[in-house]
Amino acid sequence: MKFFLDTANLDEVRKGASWGIVDGVTTNPTLIAREGRPIAEQVHHICEIVEGDVSAEVVGTEAESMISEGRELSKIHKHVVIKVPLTRDGIKATKALSGEGYRVNVTLCFTPAQALLAAKAGAYIISPFVGRLDDIGHNGMDLIRNIAAIYKNYGYRTQILAASLRGPVHVIDAALAGAHIGTMPFKVMDMLFNHPLTDKGLEQFLRDWAKVFQETPVAG
Ligand code: G3P
Repeated sequence: MKFFLDTANLDEVRKGASWGIVDGVTTNPTLIAREGRPIAEQVHHICEIVEGDVSAEVVGTEAESMISEGRELSKIHKHVVIKVPLTRDGIKATKALSGEGYRVNVTLCFTPAQALLAAKAGAYIISPFVGRLDDIGHNGMDLIRNIAAIYKNYGYRTQILAASLRGPVHVIDAALAGAHIGTMPFKVMDMLFNHPLTDKGLEQFLRDWAKVFQETPVAG
């Protein structure tokens, strides 16, 4: 499973990248706006840090503007994946941009039918939002499972990127459900490392080691 960071914050990207397990980054207009810098500048910085796909989202709502915006975004860096929303115009833009050889991430997916539309239009990535479905009383993970089954039935190569993951259990369930990629906020990725028994065990190992090798003078 590929791990993406869902952030536009450079400190978070740098810290995550230093661990060696970040395969890409997803941004959206909210995340870019939070950093307060122009999208081209911010995305370029991110692309220079991470060796992998970096999604940059269009803000136009009509197919023609999404297509021209997408072409511009892709000029920022070779890592850029053009992100478009799952609307009629978004699907139209996906078909056109994919036909021109661009990699497109179709976002704001909430049903298997929408995921099927994206795959048919040639999307490189589909982004189903798990947490936001849970928020309205649905089972977000069922969506990942259903998309995985449907794509398998027809051999679609569109990658399933589980988005809106809110905690480690979401990440693991998405992996079990067959997501190719999980994108998560920095704090969720950070939480994946934690277990009290790891801390306790390490403390014990170091205490035992110190008793023999640090408190006793080295022979010779
Ligand atoms: O980037 C899209 C998605 O991951 C947003 O997550 O937590 O705002 O629903 P969230």
